[in-house]
Amino acid sequence: MTYNSLVILTGAGISAESGVPTFRADDGLWMGHRIEDVATPEAYARDPALVQDFYNKRRRQLGEVQPNAAHRALAELAARWKGDFLLVTQNVDDLHDRAHAETPPATGFSLIHMHGELLKARCTASGRVCDWVEDLDVRHDSPFHPDGWLRPHIVWFGEMPLAMHVIDAALERCDLFVSIGTSGAVYPAAGLVQQARRAGARTVEINLEPSQGARQFDEGLYGPATERVPEFVERLLQR
Ligand code: APR
Repeated sequence: MTYNSLVILTGAGISAESGVPTFRADDGLWMGHRIEDVATPEAYARDPALVQDFYNKRRRQLGEVQPNAAHRALAELAARWKGDFLLVTQNVDDLHDRAHAETPPATGFSLIHMHGELLKARCTASGRVCDWVEDLDVRHDSPFHPDGWLRPHIVWFGEMPLAMHVIDAALERCDLFVSIGTSGAVYPAAGLVQQARRAGARTVEINLEPSQGARQFDEGLYGPATERVPEFVERLLQR
């Protein structure tokens, strides 16, 4: 069977072999912090220094990691895919972006960071977003608004993920949905597979082990992303 409209959802597992820790592993990314202390609007209001420091460290860490074979395989797929292709990532790292910069995608491709990006900052007053590579100060004056600060452009718990209308529209017409390296623990990302099923799409999960939502998938490919994703992409391109 050939597919025209592909939606791929990725999570922390695709970046794990690049050296970016996943969230729910024992050596989790939270670096000794509870989620409520670093990844909520309340935490930022209560202790902006702790929150900025947490994301400053993660932003700096990006300089030490590189895209891996799974990111590169998806970039190759995007370059050769003839139909619509939406890549939705929950990851705030820039490893997909860097892989796609090396292999420019075909027209019809878009990438959405639904949980934001470490390399962007957002004005608390105007909501405007800009590229950001340096550390952010505790109360970093916004260039966009006299009453604003720059905060990390990260979707915290309790905030609405980005570009959901674009994701919903792509899922309505999608005929192949692939979920890679995500535990299926966080909504609405964990519910995208159900939307794809309602649209009649075939659903495939690629993960180290079956995720919480494994039963929602028609096919499961289990093992390290750097092995399973290139194999899957090769199979898809040979159809
Ligand atoms: N290859 C494939 N899968 C892997 C690998 C690997 N090398 N290493 C780990 N995994 C799998 C794990 O088995 C797990 O199912 O990746 C998944 C990672 O799950 P989480 O750590 O929960 O990450 P994710 O699903 O992306 O988290 C979703 O939660 O905290 C929030 O906003 C944060 O975007 C994040 C969201």
